[in-house]
Amino acid sequence: MKFNLNQFLLAVSDALDFVEINTLGSTSYHSKRVAYIALRLADFYILSDKEKFDLCSFSILHDNGLSEEDTVNEFENDPKKENLSIFEQYTQHCEIGERNIIDFPFLSNHNNIVKYHHENFDGTGSYKLKGEQIPLLSQIIALADTVDNIFHFENPSIENREKIVKFINDKTNTLYSPQLVKNFNSLASKPAFWFDLQSNNLEKLVLNKTTDFTMNIELEDLVKLSSIFSRIIDSNSSFTSRHSSGLTQKVEEMCNFYEYEKEKTMKMIIAANLHDLGKLAVPNKILDKQSALTKKEFEIIKCHTYYTRQALEKISGFEDIVEWAANHHEKLDGNGYPYGFDANRLCFDSRLMGCLDIYQALTEERPYRKSMSHKDTMNILLDHGSKGYIDERIVNDINKVFS
Ligand SMILES: [Fe+2]
Ligand SMILES: [Fe+2]
Ligand SMILES: [Fe+2]
Ligand SMILES: [Fe+2]
Repeated sequence: MKFNLNQFLLAVSDALDFVEINTLGSTSYHSKRVAYIALRLADFYILSDKEKFDLCSFSILHDNGLSEEDTVNEFENDPKKENLSIFEQYTQHCEIGERNIIDFPFLSNHNNIVKYHHENFDGTGSYKLKGEQIPLLSQIIALADTVDNIFHFENPSIENREKIVKFINDKTNTLYSPQLVKNFNSLASKPAFWFDLQSNNLEKLVLNKTTDFTMNIELEDLVKLSSIFSRIIDSNSSFTSRHSSGLTQKVEEMCNFYEYEKEKTMKMIIAANLHDLGKLAVPNKILDKQSALTKKEFEIIKCHTYYTRQALEKISGFEDIVEWAANHHEKLDGNGYPYGFDANRLCFDSRLMGCLDIYQALTEERPYRKSMSHKDTMNILLDHGSKGYIDERIVNDINKVFS
């Protein structure tokens, strides 16, 4: 399958950004802007096309380890909690973020870029790296990240631009190298740089800044890539810490039961790994709530499969995968969400994913209940099957396979 890694990352970046929006109050398209600023800064250095391509990937992935749960807990216990930027100073998300992407197929040999994206030039960061000990790509991302987090770039006023430039210059030799600040000043002096950052076309601008390394990627590699994201999604909440990976296993077992071809099974696994991508958009205080959800909170939950679809639809070659991944809360009677698709619209594999998602969720612990046994779970599935909400034949097959 022809595949451009950065096109894929840009497609999922809106969902990834939500964690940062929920924890740090960043604005949407944060990682796209970080990538754009980073790539513009990279023009001042001698970097190969592959290194620039990877810089784009690192920029989009820089805060993938920022789990709302862990960070919020640490933050709550911190006496300096009125200062939002300390959030980001914690080493934890740098460590986790680096670990999550260990299998990512980067094109060049840069290590620990995510790990060191909060080091300070004067050696006062978490790992105490100083000056040129900090990888250049980490230094570039640090500047782009901090600036976008502190100053909301969607505010186009001249005053805001001036504040940003002053902040960066004040931090010369403490947070940033003099050379990096000089390069930033050069970019900041051109109005087009700011117009680009506010452009609706930012995704295209980012892609245009890199050479198109579209490669032929095997489905096996896409499975591995999607499992990186299932890890990121699962690590966002302790209650769903094995949800995507658990679903993936069950999907594989059912595909084997139906004797699907290997290729189809791998695509189903990719769909399972990514099915709850949009959950990153749902704040943890809703996901982990101990009591019943209010109507308003349930509306927010409903957006998650909408975002999954929005992201996956952008990826060419994912036409089947989108359907199998994003329809898992639709019901045969048309009363599911978010589209209200009915039996005429829901293919067998979308139905299968939906049934297995319920099975997986019920057998997991939730803040408001214990995990359910196979038998109790099946009673619910059989009931929903007999009422025509979900596919009864599939429910019976699930019962055979997992009993
Ligand atoms: Fe960070
Ligand atoms: Fe960030
Ligand atoms: Fe879901
Ligand atoms: Fe799910």
